[in-house]
Amino acid sequence: MGKSASLAFVTLLLGAQSVLGDPSEATNKACTDLKNALPGKVLTPGFLQLEYEYETQQYWATNLREVDPACIVQPNSAQDVSDAVKILNKYPTVQFATRSGGHDPNKGHSTVQDGVVIAMTDLVGARYDAEEDVAYVKPGGEWNDVISELEKSGVAIAGGRLGLVGVGGLLLGGGLSFLNAQEGLASDNIIGWETVMANGSIVNVDAKKHPDLAQAMRGSGGQFGIVTQFKAKVHHLGNVWGGSCVYDESKADQLYAVLHDFTAQGAQDPKAAIIFSDLVFAAGVKLKLVFYFYDNPTPPTSGPFADFIKVSSACKPTTQKYSELLKKNGDPVGLLNARSFFRTYTIPHIPARPQMYKEIRDKLAELTTQFLSIPPLIRAIQFSVDFQPFPALFGKISATKGGNAMGLTASDPDRIILIFQGAWNLSDDDDLAHGIARQLTSWLDEVVPKWIAEAGMPENMYMPLFLNDAMWDQPVMQSYKDYNKFKTLQKQVDPDGLWSTRAGGFKY
Ligand SMILES: Cc1cc2nc3c(=O)[nH]c(=O)nc-3n(C[C@H](O)[C@H](O)[C@H](O)COP(=O)(O)OP(=O)(O)OC[C@H]3O[C@@H](n4cnc5c(N)ncnc54)[C@H](O)[C@@H]3O)c2cc1C
Ligand SMILES: *[C@@H]1O[C@H](CO)[C@@H](O)[C@H](O)[C@H]1NC(C)=O
Ligand SMILES: *[C@@H]1O[C@H](CO)[C@@H](O)[C@H](O)[C@H]1NC(C)=O
Repeated sequence: MGKSASLAFVTLLLGAQSVLGDPSEATNKACTDLKNALPGKVLTPGFLQLEYEYETQQYWATNLREVDPACIVQPNSAQDVSDAVKILNKYPTVQFATRSGGHDPNKGHSTVQDGVVIAMTDLVGARYDAEEDVAYVKPGGEWNDVISELEKSGVAIAGGRLGLVGVGGLLLGGGLSFLNAQEGLASDNIIGWETVMANGSIVNVDAKKHPDLAQAMRGSGGQFGIVTQFKAKVHHLGNVWGGSCVYDESKADQLYAVLHDFTAQGAQDPKAAIIFSDLVFAAGVKLKLVFYFYDNPTPPTSGPFADFIKVSSACKPTTQKYSELLKKNGDPVGLLNARSFFRTYTIPHIPARPQMYKEIRDKLAELTTQFLSIPPLIRAIQFSVDFQPFPALFGKISATKGGNAMGLTASDPDRIILIFQGAWNLSDDDDLAHGIARQLTSWLDEVVPKWIAEAGMPENMYMPLFLNDAMWDQPVMQSYKDYNKFKTLQKQVDPDGLWSTRAGGFKY
């Protein structure tokens, strides 16, 4: 090709690209400034930019792997993040996103088309400080890394139940853990946050010195800053007992009955935890996957946890290291490799309505049947609802540890956190899948008040949404009872709206 021809070719390419939307001039300038300030730590797209390509694929949901940021920053320290934030402040039109593990499936939360991504790829690891009896944990990597490192010292921190899940996002969003009934939510155990604030300053937020800010940071995602290290209270533990079991529909009634019991009484044995995952597949196939955890080498022989184990199945939960259990729990999910959504709903435990789990699962099956049967059968892979018991006890513990943004208290009711999840293949089906998720929660908006009224329970029970399981359009912070207080605080530390208007995630 001659010079002019190749120029024309390049112009054609650029022209074609700009139809899709290019990074703005300001974004390109910001990326150049970032490259100059942080040499070797900023990736841009291009021919054979393999590390950039690799970074764009580090998302659990495949729908996020097709997003192309203008550049990706890989900080090594709080100072690097601070430098990046100061540069972003100079370019007020540039959008950006922070990513730790990349497990949040919501578009725009931890990656951004044509914007700047700050990826915690190099900020990984955990360290136990025996003198203080606390752990220092970095936001990158996965729970597998954190737990196996801390286990060498006989400790863990409350965190993910599937080892492959990301660390930073989970700890900032509340955090359901197998240790909740002993330690409260994962974020309740964080007592220090090394944080880059909106103006680029590095602040060590301390739960004792800044109790309001600490409470706010437990369940506000990235709305108060970028966290580069967590200081956490630890849980001492030895070998645990657990594993996951798959059940076919013939065991459904038995399992729902035990689940109902467990939710009401499970807190009486705080060492016990479960995840109850109700799955629907094509051709009407329905399975249950129950994850078991007991914080002791041997499980109890009576009570609701023991009743679960008595429901026959081919599986064999065993005594093992906590890290081994978490690793195995994550393995099946790692293979999923699909587009995904999360959508959450918080319901009270309604003692008079043991049939509610089946009612919810049946609604899920009804709304997804058609999608699941579009040929080829692999177009939609699977939908599920998880019933996650959230007993009053969690609030009691949370309150003693200083409270969190979700506003749990000692007078909370027993609740169940639902997460609806879907896995499908084609972007053409995104609207269909998201529509199903919204129909499910709209249906719950209608029926749950009726269930509560029929059961003679109070109508205004506090049912905040759980951030880590939510879809981007759900009003998570707006469901928090101290919404106004935290919104004011957010505005104080972020007067120009760096996090609230320019970065991804749920907002006040
Ligand atoms: C297979 C699977 C299992 C799960 N299991 C659990 C579970 O057991 N318990 C539970 O509570 N949740 C669970 N979740 C949900 C999970 O907590 C959220 O998806 C969470 O966001 C994952 O953390 P991450 O670091 O991967 O987040 P990312 O996707 O990296 O980020 C999520 C959000 O947090 C922000 N963020 C991330 N890191 C930082 C930081 N360092 N500073 C400021 N903001 C930041 C991002 O900007 C984004 O808005 C699970 C999710 C999956 C996919
Ligand atoms: C759908 O996803 C599954 C699981 O990842 C994969 O094996 C299959 O090839 C995909 N099908 C299509 C049509 O993309
Ligand atoms: C930056 O923000 C922090 C937190 O809001 C504040 O304490 C600090 O004084 C600010 N620094 C400057 C230089 O404005």
